[in-house]
Amino acid sequence: MSLAKGVLPRQRNTNQDRVIRNPHANGYFISVDLVDPLTREQVAAWLTNVAKPAVEQLVAHPHGHELDLGHDASERLAAVAIGFGERFFNRAFDPPIAMPLDFANRPRRLPNATHPDDIIFYVVALSEARAADFLATLSSDRSTVANVRLHRGYQRIDESEVFGYRDGIRNPRAAEERQRIAFVEGDSGEPEWSHGGTYMVYMRIQQNHETFDALADDNARDAVIGRTSDGRRLDQAEVDFPNEPSEYGSGMPPNSHVRKAGPRGKHEDVKIFRRGLPYVEANDSGQVTRGLNFVSFQKSLDPFDVIFNDWMRDTRFPEQQSEIGQDALLAHTTTIKEGAYFVPPHDDDFPGATMFRAAAVKQPKTGKIHIRKTVRDVNNSPRGFERSGFVFELVANDGTGTVLQTQSTNAVGHATFDDVPLGVYEVREQPPMIANMQPAPNQTINLDSGAVVLRFENVQNDPNSPYG
Ligand code: HEM
Repeated sequence: MSLAKGVLPRQRNTNQDRVIRNPHANGYFISVDLVDPLTREQVAAWLTNVAKPAVEQLVAHPHGHELDLGHDASERLAAVAIGFGERFFNRAFDPPIAMPLDFANRPRRLPNATHPDDIIFYVVALSEARAADFLATLSSDRSTVANVRLHRGYQRIDESEVFGYRDGIRNPRAAEERQRIAFVEGDSGEPEWSHGGTYMVYMRIQQNHETFDALADDNARDAVIGRTSDGRRLDQAEVDFPNEPSEYGSGMPPNSHVRKAGPRGKHEDVKIFRRGLPYVEANDSGQVTRGLNFVSFQKSLDPFDVIFNDWMRDTRFPEQQSEIGQDALLAHTTTIKEGAYFVPPHDDDFPGATMFRAAAVKQPKTGKIHIRKTVRDVNNSPRGFERSGFVFELVANDGTGTVLQTQSTNAVGHATFDDVPLGVYEVREQPPMIANMQPAPNQTINLDSGAVVLRFENVQNDPNSPYG
């Protein structure tokens, strides 16, 4: 399985990547809208004749004058992850391109594309000249490209975000773990072309210095983040990060960003790989704005949805009985742009070529039924609830009611019935043992391929009920 490029920093002998982790690198988020309508063939031709050579030139090893500048010919100068947006997958291609599951069967509260672009190029480059050439080439064919937009960022020298706090402390570090968290696997039920690709969330988040600086003192600011600026957890002032205990002590404000976004215990398996870049910009009106280009890579959009919506934006999480409000950091930020994308696995033919190839038709004997579980508030407010521990039964459809398999959901709300012979079944949820929880209706399913996905949503009828 080939993996998407430009996603994980390359790890050589040390943990330092020459491009992505390089403090001299700049970031460029280049969004491209294609004209409408376009055929499959026209898109494939643009990706082959324009995007592919542009990417090759961008990531080529140093040559010519670049070598005179001291660059080593064996090192790269740029990396790029190429994400395709929902606008792209919603195009009426004939024959259609199989959508990634989380776009076809969208989690309820995904970031809505502020500006729905077809493709985003997340470039990290050591050379402004390379990035400039890339931008110019991408926008050259106006019969195919309608608009090109650019947002910038930079790699940090001291690992701090623009409020001055160390960022990236509790982010998966080991290459294998990052790989497991980020990339779509073969047994996921995702279309075959997507295996080795990754979902990318991009949010350009402006950070409001006026309100953050106006807080009473450093203690008040630390309480928003949940760590001191040098990275100590507030309940563990004497302990370095690797030795932090997994449970939080009383010194940790329940609505601090770290407490809301990083609960421990049974939520350990809700993981994303963050790779954002800060920005500082001045505009023609004389204003300076600062913030974070938040980027996360994950093999499903559900972990992002859980962290951002069910936890950070939920006013009761993590304390179960009382209102503690949303993540305190959100009061000091404004989202400028957001969107979800799919970065396909690398293909030598052209970027995204795997999407355009028809899947080999293999008729398997057995398949998997993937359950995706969410719980919503009866008022459809942005409240979420615990997704783990819901029990599902796979029931024979022969009138006997025989339960063939039982599975329960994990903290992201996923469960899988494996090795199921193709055929028709009923999938039912055992009545939840939670007050005021309306059960999700049973679903009849015809398993006629290697994998199907069923979304189940319960309704919590009491808006004042606790999170878990
Ligand atoms: C401007 C916006 C943001 C800023 C300035 C920011 C900053 C930080 C900082 C300083 C930390 C603590 C250090 C660390 O563990 O890396 C952190 C942790 C974290 N942030 Fe953010 N963040 C922002 C937005 C977001 C968003 C939108 C998400 C959505 C998923 C998110 C998810 C996380 C997670 C999962 C952690 C790790 C928590 C843990 O397990 O301890 N952050 N962030």
